[in-house]
Amino acid sequence: MDDFKKSTIYQIYPKSFYDSNGDGIGDIRGIIEKLDYIKSLGVDYIWSTPVFVSPMNDNGYDVADYLNINPLFGTMSDVDDLINEADKRGIGVMMDMVFNHTSTEHEWFKKALCGDEKYMDYYIFKDGSADKPPTNWQSKFGGSAWEYVPKLGKWYLHLFDVTQADLNWENKEVRDELKKVIKFWKDKGVRGFRFDVVNLISKPDRFEDDSEGDGRKFYTDGPRVHEYLKELVADTGIENMVTVGEMSSTSIENCIRYSNPAEKELSMCFNFHHLKIDYKDGNKWEIQEPDYMALKEIFREWQCRMQENDGWNAVFWCNHDQPRIVSRLGSEGKYWKESAKMLAACIHMMRGTPYIYQGEEIGMTNPHFDDIHDYRDVESTNYFKILLDEGKSEDEALEILAARSRDNSRTPMQWDGSAFVGFSESEPWIKVSSNYGDINVLREEGDEDSVLNFYKKLIKLRKEYPAIQDGKIEFIFESQDKVLAYKRIYEDQEITVINNLSESEVELPEEINIQGMKLLLSNYKGDYSEGIKKLRAYESVILLNNKR
Ligand code: GLC
Ligand code: CA
Repeated sequence: MDDFKKSTIYQIYPKSFYDSNGDGIGDIRGIIEKLDYIKSLGVDYIWSTPVFVSPMNDNGYDVADYLNINPLFGTMSDVDDLINEADKRGIGVMMDMVFNHTSTEHEWFKKALCGDEKYMDYYIFKDGSADKPPTNWQSKFGGSAWEYVPKLGKWYLHLFDVTQADLNWENKEVRDELKKVIKFWKDKGVRGFRFDVVNLISKPDRFEDDSEGDGRKFYTDGPRVHEYLKELVADTGIENMVTVGEMSSTSIENCIRYSNPAEKELSMCFNFHHLKIDYKDGNKWEIQEPDYMALKEIFREWQCRMQENDGWNAVFWCNHDQPRIVSRLGSEGKYWKESAKMLAACIHMMRGTPYIYQGEEIGMTNPHFDDIHDYRDVESTNYFKILLDEGKSEDEALEILAARSRDNSRTPMQWDGSAFVGFSESEPWIKVSSNYGDINVLREEGDEDSVLNFYKKLIKLRKEYPAIQDGKIEFIFESQDKVLAYKRIYEDQEITVINNLSESEVELPEEINIQGMKLLLSNYKGDYSEGIKKLRAYESVILLNNKR
């Protein structure tokens, strides 16, 4: 069986993880210092978001040099040490490859701006007059996706920030340059790669206006994306490494192709459909109550269809672009602990490779910033202005940001209860969340019943049970919107996972008789020997039946 099916992956956002030199910014040595903690979780890989040279307009996703390290984070020898030290502990390092675009500070783009035709063809430049962009496509961070360069009389495409210019994958030289980057990191000893928004790399032959949307239908899972991925993987020899593609607004059909081993593209895919169930009409900047039936339906569809077609999901709730899940679908109050554990169980027992985003394992929450000056993220500050332009009041806009901003997940990792949360000796680059006295690693390490210890148990269960690693998934209680429940089946091993997504007690459509079953894990005390008829607030139960 492929090793990634047994694995759990821990995501690190270095800027907010641990600051080793007291400048308020997390760094690579900080990760090295915390490797024993990471090891104690039982995870197999760490994926670090980009640490390459960058002007940091999008916190490193604007890469100016793929082969050198941003001094803010450390040096190349720190990265070498990280790889070695992680390796000693049996942990593989995965690097984040941002190949849809480069920073406009990259030397390729600088040469392009000087009119060097070779490098202009590395990007997507289109002729036009200053008053009319080539198409009406919108940037994912707000505003037009095109920027005019007066001295060239051309526009360049940027699906993200204006300082993130899209690369032209049609140009073989570009593809070859990017292969060199992969080989460089592979030779350094990294064990896997995460590919940033990789399903956006193939743009259409013709650029035309989108009469209904923001243009994404033309370039999402674009015309030659599978061909390009196959070529990249084959030419760099990474088919046996762990690879995950971040897929923006993708489809199951495409994710099957990206991750089916026979296609030799990637090990697995992230998709985000389950994280849009609280977007009003698909709009991230309009809040609505979560639609639990939709959540269940999306999980069922993605889990079952990927299974039927030999695809593989990366399963997750949190990352550096998402608000904290316990604030979103759980409870920050009375049931904080129960809900954090229940949400973890939902994901970790599924078919796919689970990802934990730093701080999730201790139940970190959104910080509830109420001043625009507390925000650092380019998307948040852009959208604050857009929301005001649309007629929202400042308070309304701030309320939306407090729920939706990417900074919700970027506050410093809460290591202990001291003033700078054990993250740094000085003022961190972004404010800490005020609940660090209750929610921190030190405290939870000392509490057997903590969220942290629950995560460790889930990771361990995956290692022990083939049914969790590679079992078939079957959903149960499908009509009960507040209960997410499924079975995982492998030969004579059957694991039943039942989760109450709500704060109220729910009655199960059918009583579970646990005769002959073993309780593997639950977030409430009790032996369940009487069977299970009702679930308490956010209750989660994992049962094993070995006698099929
Ligand atoms: C991905 C990253 C995000 C970044 C964007 C552009 O979605 O996760 O942080 O802003 O790509 O690179
Ligand atoms: Ca530092």
